Amino acid sequence: MLDTPACALLADAQEGLNRPQKTLSPKWFYDARGSALFEQITRLPEYYPTRTEAAILRTDALRLAGLVPPGGALVELGSGASVKTRTLLDAGGHFGAYVPIDISEEFLLETAAHLRARYPYLPVHPVVGDFTQAVILPEAIVDQPKVGFFPGSTIGNLDPGEAVALLARARVWPGITRFVLGADLVKEQGDLIAAYDDAAGVTAAFNRNVLHRLNREVGADFDVPVFRHEARWCEDPARIEMHLVATRAQVVHLAGQDIHFAEGESIHTESCRKYTRRTLATLAAQAGWRLEDMLTDPRDRFAVAILTV
Ligand code: AVJ
Repeated sequence: MLDTPACALLADAQEGLNRPQKTLSPKWFYDARGSALFEQITRLPEYYPTRTEAAILRTDALRLAGLVPPGGALVELGSGASVKTRTLLDAGGHFGAYVPIDISEEFLLETAAHLRARYPYLPVHPVVGDFTQAVILPEAIVDQPKVGFFPGSTIGNLDPGEAVALLARARVWPGITRFVLGADLVKEQGDLIAAYDDAAGVTAAFNRNVLHRLNREVGADFDVPVFRHEARWCEDPARIEMHLVATRAQVVHLAGQDIHFAEGESIHTESCRKYTRRTLATLAAQAGWRLEDMLTDPRDRFAVAILTV
């Protein structure tokens, strides 16, 4: 019998692969191999977002940590290993609590244990939760002032409506005063394409990994090498789209169903939105926030936006 994630993967794939523009959700990239490939992506010379955001957080650590009032809580959505957050925790000796929220319980609890060892004075309250849904904040911090933190430009993976909904949900957390949001910026198209179609082919392997996953976990029979990785620049809203393009016509079998691919037909696997000051201000306003400031690197490649109530 299929376990729960495999059932969800199959249901999602059946739905997405029967649309006129076939789609798969980027959330399925991140099995063990996909997570390892993403780690590799963050170290590629072409993939500037991770290191650029980390540099902004280091440069402006005191200012950002200072947004949290003394005794207040920093609440992070999709915290993973909380690597970037350490920059803020190092500068946040006055924090009353750190609340990492992540979907992967095992990873989250391991990270919380590491953080408690590193910051013995700081209460760490991990929450297992999916940031695309409402999250339940721990009782211990409900009455504390709090600042939301959502780095990595993960917001850019959500469709516009979902992105607004996420920020609007955080806007009504009791005691929230600010929201610190990492967002990638519109820039020269060549640089954007290169970041999502690197010379070493790591992003291509990351993209195709979802097909290996379908073969392994739900018994599909994708001929994976037939699918070519493609990164496309699209306008309105400004974004990179990742696709897997069938280089010849074929039929794939998925749970007793035939899925037909014409030559050149693609599966859309991810959208990564790129913002400007204006589009970030609009996004904030739609969710009831005001864009107070936008911290950037010297080349204006990435933004750490400070939203205020
Ligand atoms: C993890 C969503 C921020 O959009 O840049 C990297 C994912 N996809 N290369 C991004 C990703 C291809 C990444 N995020």
